[in-house]
Amino acid sequence: MTRVSDLDTPAVTIDLDVVEANIKRAQDILDAQGIANRPHIKTHKIPALAKKQIAAGAVGITCQKLGEVEVFADAGAADDILLTYNIIGESKTERLAALIKRLKRLAVVLDNEVVARGLSDAAKRYGVDIRFLIECDTGYGRNGVQSPQAALDLAQATMKMPGLQFEGLMTFPTAKPETRQYLERALQLLKGAGIPVPVVSGGGSPSLKSVADFPFLTEYRAGTYIYNDVMQVTAGAATWDDCALRVRATVVSCPTQDRVIFDAGSKVMTYEQYYAKGFGRIVEYPDAEVTGFSEEHGNADFSKSAKKPQIGEVVSIIPNHCCVVTNMMDEVYGIRGDRVEEVFPVAARGKVR
Ligand SMILES: Cc1ncc(COP(=O)(O)O)c(C=O)c1O
Repeated sequence: MTRVSDLDTPAVTIDLDVVEANIKRAQDILDAQGIANRPHIKTHKIPALAKKQIAAGAVGITCQKLGEVEVFADAGAADDILLTYNIIGESKTERLAALIKRLKRLAVVLDNEVVARGLSDAAKRYGVDIRFLIECDTGYGRNGVQSPQAALDLAQATMKMPGLQFEGLMTFPTAKPETRQYLERALQLLKGAGIPVPVVSGGGSPSLKSVADFPFLTEYRAGTYIYNDVMQVTAGAATWDDCALRVRATVVSCPTQDRVIFDAGSKVMTYEQYYAKGFGRIVEYPDAEVTGFSEEHGNADFSKSAKKPQIGEVVSIIPNHCCVVTNMMDEVYGIRGDRVEEVFPVAARGKVR
């Protein structure tokens, strides 16, 4: 039996009791609202964890990239998948068509006619129907049609294209009150035009707790909730105890009284910050601040920490953003207490095409 303390560092661990509790909590919230759960696997990229999510009640999964869909389809992890990315170019539409033939259901999103025309051409070329949702920018400022009227216009334009099946609307994230107003108006317009909208897909872990404020959603895509991280705690969506993923790192140097260097740099922790303060939380030393990284060095300021670590000591760090840390490692260690229960290869690691 391998103990957690036997793991060489840097190592990413996930506490399986916490993972399972996080899966159950999200499923319970969505079940209570009658909203289907379609977790986003970009957080873990591990088919075995998608199987746990489905066993707990998820209807299927969400993927961000075709390569992720391929890995999860090959692993038999899910047969009902939503791909939340504009698919462009022949090499990708060919792969999409091949996946549509293999899976019970694969839907994509789109937010413009260029993408829609490419999909329609591929549908004809490969003899498939392509189900799609229209992505709506309800305030985030990323992809998405810019108004409810634009959603209607695109729905009407794309419904005329051969081989395409309009299934509904999708947005990310699901923020109040903008998302509600936007989607209610879009649904009103589509209804007025006689267009059925079977799917309205919302997403994002921070707003999971307020899904009751979006009664028109038919499904929900949360990703980060399975592990949680500094950003989720900062957003009030999780507690430190809900954070399943930690980076174990060895203190390799204490060059000054207050500076501590550990062996996980930006090639493990990444440099994501968003609205978090600092670059991670050292669980054993909550008053220390991770101030930055070199590629293989983590740098922490212990001036506000009464306790100091020893050289050679292993610390565990909750990263700012767990989803990108996942993509840095070949494997994560599933632990219970001080036991390593399972080593999970991060099967979709690096699948960015
Ligand atoms: C399209 C889409 N849906 C859902 C999610 C899941 O959001 P979260 O990780 O906050 O749960 C994301 C996150 O990046 C996303 O881009």
